[in-house]
Amino acid sequence: MDYICGQGFKEVELKENGDITPCCPVWTNFYSFGNVFENSIEEIMNSEKAKNFRKSIINKTYEFCNTERCVGKHAITKEELEKICKEDGTAIKFPETFSFGHDRCCNLLCIFCRDHNWMNTEEEVKKLDNLIDSKFIPMLKDAKNVKMLASGELFASRHCRNLVKKITQKYPNIKFDIVSNGILFDEENCKELGIIDKLSRVTISVHAGTEKTYNKLIRHGNYKRLWKNINWLASLKNQNKIDNLELVFTITHLNFREMKIFAQKAKKLNLEFKFFEYRKEEGKFSKNYDKTAVWLPQNKHYKEFLNIISDPIFDDPNCHLSSNIINLRKNNPTKETIIDLIKKVIKIK
Ligand SMILES: C[S@@+](CC[C@H](N)C(=O)[O-])C[C@H]1O[C@@H](n2cnc3c(N)ncnc32)[C@H](O)[C@@H]1O
Ligand code: SF4
Repeated sequence: MDYICGQGFKEVELKENGDITPCCPVWTNFYSFGNVFENSIEEIMNSEKAKNFRKSIINKTYEFCNTERCVGKHAITKEELEKICKEDGTAIKFPETFSFGHDRCCNLLCIFCRDHNWMNTEEEVKKLDNLIDSKFIPMLKDAKNVKMLASGELFASRHCRNLVKKITQKYPNIKFDIVSNGILFDEENCKELGIIDKLSRVTISVHAGTEKTYNKLIRHGNYKRLWKNINWLASLKNQNKIDNLELVFTITHLNFREMKIFAQKAKKLNLEFKFFEYRKEEGKFSKNYDKTAVWLPQNKHYKEFLNIISDPIFDDPNCHLSSNIINLRKNNPTKETIIDLIKKVIKIK
């Protein structure tokens, strides 16, 4: 990359083991600045590792980044950089975006995410709550945006609910980017947490076009309740009370045939919709990855998948595809050329 990427200066993520990683953990190979259970926030943000990481970006070596995986293209200007970091990598400001991914608590059991329920014990809630005032609140002193919850479900976690309430009281200007399974994302919960007028981006995981397939993938889910909440969120979006509202779909062999129905449903509400491939690093189909990954040529559904993604609905401006799927669509080997069609017509006659 010949530009300075701003992502690692502006955003950090807190992982379940307490590590603070810059940018997106997968894009930076889980590089850690330090650990909240061992170090103070000041120590973490200006540790040797943190400074070395920043220097590697200032020098454009990107030695700690996984540049093949990274899709960040957030160039930072020199003037912007001077306000947040010194030349030797010392941070002048804390990050403007803080992503929480430290709590696995969840009300659901999605088939590709986990194989057993995860609810925090009293002790675990206490341990995490103890970090709110000592670590998390000071960490957010320059934050404009909080992202939640990459590792579980915000609305199902007692600790995360406590954390959000504290953030909204202490920093009323912080906005929230929330990724959720949608089941508990209703007016009552948003009011209780104090976030109803602080939603910048809302991402709801749907992963299916029909209730039948949803129930196969999302154990303990509730399709009707999910759509009731999506409709409510869409009404907030229409009133410009949410900046961005998007529905997401993780593609596997079990749901790829419903990509189009899902897209039609999102379009009907005028919402953005996104497709992700199932990631083997994090999921429960890892051992059967080739069977799950319909986008791989060796997969038995590959041709059918290529056919499905050739539909024009995926050209919609509200549709977001991964770069891999964009390439597959461009170079689709199963696409019939005009010559193929002419040959077919001649044969039929
Ligand atoms: C881990 S969840 C956390 C937020 C929330 N509980 C939810 O379901 O949206 C974030 C997203 O990652 C997706 N996900 C989980 N495991 C995945 C995997 N192995 N590959 C791709 N996406 C995955 C989920 O379906 C969800 O859309
Ligand atoms: S994907 Fe989200 S809702 Fe599903 S089990 Fe994982 S954390 Fe829970």
